[in-house]
Amino acid sequence: MAKEELAAAAVNKIEKTFGEYPAYRRAHARGAGYEAVFTATGEGKNWTVAPHFRQGTTRAIVRFSHSSPDPFWTDNFSPVKGMAVQFKLPGQQVMNSVGVTSPIFFTRTPEVFTEMLDIAKSFKKGRPRLRALITLFIKYPESRASIRIIRKMQSPASFATGLYHTIHAFYLVNGTGKRVPVKFQWQPEAGVESLSPADAVSVKRGDFEKELDERVEKRETGFRLIAIIGGAGDPVNDPTREWPEDREKVELGRLQLTGKTDEAEDLLFDPTVLPEGVECTEDPILQFRNPAYAISFKRRNNEKQEKR
Ligand code: HEM
Repeated sequence: MAKEELAAAAVNKIEKTFGEYPAYRRAHARGAGYEAVFTATGEGKNWTVAPHFRQGTTRAIVRFSHSSPDPFWTDNFSPVKGMAVQFKLPGQQVMNSVGVTSPIFFTRTPEVFTEMLDIAKSFKKGRPRLRALITLFIKYPESRASIRIIRKMQSPASFATGLYHTIHAFYLVNGTGKRVPVKFQWQPEAGVESLSPADAVSVKRGDFEKELDERVEKRETGFRLIAIIGGAGDPVNDPTREWPEDREKVELGRLQLTGKTDEAEDLLFDPTVLPEGVECTEDPILQFRNPAYAISFKRRNNEKQEKR
């Protein structure tokens, strides 16, 4: 099956499993958008020619989201939260960086992802069906780690206290053409804090957005962008595997949220859109996100226009 065809099949299955919500994103449907400023530390100079990672300040738009494709789920039913950043570079160029609060993804290939959607319903309420789970583990042993992580995962206490991982590896390329694999991480300056199961019970829909608005108004929210440098033998094309903890880390810069914006809702945060100096790996899941996001974007835009 061609990549575009498989992407359409995957988006159709998401709709079938979680419901259709016209004009919303087909995943991470509900979120909140913010204006932000990214300030480079200067440490990126040796690693990449990408201008925003070398020096100065760059405008960015950030969207925090709940992972569910259903926008009406309460905030605590979606323990995995998303943080999508679009850096506005000179000459209308952009770089997208899309992270979630899980360090790994649950499948290695789009084909398995699409197959897994068939049993995804049982995950909806955080209680996977036992038989479906066993079948899944036998068939796809690489998925065990992430299912374990997601089952145990507690939501961050706030969008501002999540540790967001871009999961895939990318390459940074410097002026001499040196190309090193990296994984990006957004570390919250407020510290990493999870929602306790007792507190999770009382969370209402929209509480996360309201709480972040208050923090941003007080100019309290910032994140540090860390590039984790891959070592010899670290897998670059497998989003189901983490790299060892002791890898060198380079702090590329700091992102300060400065105010609210509606602009984020209409943007497409395609993680394969990158400037010179940052490159995609061949990770099949990363490559698949390009056509899948394009289909979702097209559908939600058409539906928005029909509503007008
Ligand atoms: C098979 C792989 C995947 C598929 C098919 C998929 C599908 C989608 C779709 C259809 C959207 C909505 C796009 C839009 O309308 O703009 C979306 C959004 C999103 N996805 Fe994925 N996704 C995949 C993998 C991942 C991975 C590995 C991550 C982790 C970094 C991730 C994080 C997100 C986030 C944070 C958003 C919201 C972005 C925003 O705020 O606009 N996804 N995904």
